[in-house]
Amino acid sequence: MTAAPDTSRYAKGFDMPVRGDTITADRYISQEFMARENQHLWPKVWHLGGMVAELEEEGDYVRHNLGTESVIMIRQADSSIKAFYNSCPHRGNRLVLGEIGGSDKITCGYHGWQFSPAGVLVNVQDPDDFPDGNPCGKVTLTEVRCETWGPFIFYCMDEDVAPLLDWLAPLPERLASYGLDDWIRVMYLTADADFNWKIIRDNFNESYHLPTIHPELSTFINDGLSDTLFEMYETGHNSMWMKGHQATTRNPEFETGEVPAPLDDVARAWGLDPADYNGHTGDIREAIVAAKRRMGPEMGYTNYENMSDQQLVDYFHCTLFPNLTITMSPEQCQILRTEPHPTDPQKCVFHHWVLAPPVAGMKEVITPIGPMPLEWAENRHSVYGDGQSVGYVADQDLSIGTSQQQGLNSRGFKGCILTHQEKRVQRFHELLNDYVTPGLSTDIINSDQLR
Ligand code: FES
Ligand SMILES: [Fe+2]
Repeated sequence: MTAAPDTSRYAKGFDMPVRGDTITADRYISQEFMARENQHLWPKVWHLGGMVAELEEEGDYVRHNLGTESVIMIRQADSSIKAFYNSCPHRGNRLVLGEIGGSDKITCGYHGWQFSPAGVLVNVQDPDDFPDGNPCGKVTLTEVRCETWGPFIFYCMDEDVAPLLDWLAPLPERLASYGLDDWIRVMYLTADADFNWKIIRDNFNESYHLPTIHPELSTFINDGLSDTLFEMYETGHNSMWMKGHQATTRNPEFETGEVPAPLDDVARAWGLDPADYNGHTGDIREAIVAAKRRMGPEMGYTNYENMSDQQLVDYFHCTLFPNLTITMSPEQCQILRTEPHPTDPQKCVFHHWVLAPPVAGMKEVITPIGPMPLEWAENRHSVYGDGQSVGYVADQDLSIGTSQQQGLNSRGFKGCILTHQEKRVQRFHELLNDYVTPGLSTDIINSDQLR
């Protein structure tokens, strides 16, 4: 496919129409819009709740807080996973306060009611003091739909939403050859941040900001417009292929000059002499494909054999509606998302996870916050801006989040003016409008249309 160098391109069949709804500031700052999202959006989508590997034995649980809601996912006796609202049926106390744990009974901290991992009330104080008799065996926690995809646990609060794999389509299929099932979460960061959740959602739905916000990536990721391929799917999700192991074609001198750092070091790591590519640096990408095919298996990257050449060297950046981002390279899966604050539309919670394949003999992997042991990491929660990095590229994105939130509060802002390459931003907001506008709901992601 050819395109003018300054023109964005969408893969054939994956360029979805948009209406041109104006994206005004109220959706980022108003309580009213937040209330509409709480009522009409969040209960009607699948949420990534945790990792399957966190639940080893019956009774192991992981909790996910989402705005004012909280859900627990628990391993069952038959090894399936059930999810329940994290609320005691006695008088509503939140049951589980920690993020992860395990027990043969869930005990409410208020009056001590106890529930089995299957969510059934099994023990109460004063069982004979109930007008209708002992409630044990009759009262249950309120169940939430729960399904898994690869290493991930998802839950959904709505019965009519499509099954998980239909909802995620076509990404499970597109991501299958990376072999994510046994990858290890080596970095698990969360942070409170002072901007609306959609600000970073928009940021991840465009690469227009790369030359200005992440200029250091330009010698390793080709953000040239005609080299980047965008896709939008009927399910509301998007993806973007960016060529990796190649400097940006926005600066032609990178191609004709010496191999720039860090591409030179990466070339050496794969047994190539960067000097051989001076004057035609773009050819390194293909040479690294060949080197990975040759050397990957002996280095323990058993998953390379199932990957396409494109997957071996490029970045597959998937933005799933409404708030989940999965960025893939052969050696790393980054999960990024922003979630709503319980009460303040001008705040959110940012998540940044890194998963790495279990390469035999490897002790350490490089993550966005530096080397980390190749083992399951515990959560580190911080407040953005307190000096703790949430990943060097993510730090750059979040720094803009704060100043954009401030600018959106200005009377002078009249609505976004978008480029063609930011069409994914436009479509995201139009889908969101469909969800949060009562009576106008044209939810494309519903079970009837997908089944
Ligand atoms: S609210 Fe849970 S036991 Fe009373
Ligand atoms: Fe960014």
